[in-house]
Amino acid sequence: MNIVLLGYMGSGKSAVGKFLAKDTTLEFLDLDDFIEKKEGMSIPEIFSTKGEIYFRKKEGDYLKEVLECQKNKVISLGGGTPCYGRNMDVISDATENVYYLKASVDILVDRLMKEKDHRPLIKDLDEEELPEFIKKHLFERNFYYLRAKHIVAVDGKSVAGVSGEIRKTLV
Ligand code: S3P
Repeated sequence: MNIVLLGYMGSGKSAVGKFLAKDTTLEFLDLDDFIEKKEGMSIPEIFSTKGEIYFRKKEGDYLKEVLECQKNKVISLGGGTPCYGRNMDVISDATENVYYLKASVDILVDRLMKEKDHRPLIKDLDEEELPEFIKKHLFERNFYYLRAKHIVAVDGKSVAGVSGEIRKTLV
């Protein structure tokens, strides 16, 4: 059994994924970490040296590899993973345990304002530009995210609380 966590940058995919993995007998796998290991470069380095299109291509390839080869994992995706190519179909075909961690724009802005430097898509936006960017970007990406079988609202909830909600619905 695999569990897939998706959602916007800053929605808590990695924190919840690590907690959920500990709380179950599953292992945690972060797709961004997997890509970095395979490529021998950090995500910001991949963006700056090879470009976003190269990253998206690799992200799709590694997503398939992970979903085909890995078993009994909690897999947290990158924020953009479900939104390119046929990735959302690949995810939905692989497992029923697909969870969208749905955070509001306000929460995302608050979190990402503090941790935008290692995120290539938002690192150059200033405090005034970031909220509008996130609002529009999330609106576009929700088209893909909302195809997840399960939607878990995360605002105001602890990592343990979100993880517990997911556990209750596991098949
Ligand atoms: C991205 C999100 C990042 C990472 C890359 C692109 C995106 O992952 O994959 O910087 O397109 O939203 P996190 O959601 O873990 O920050």
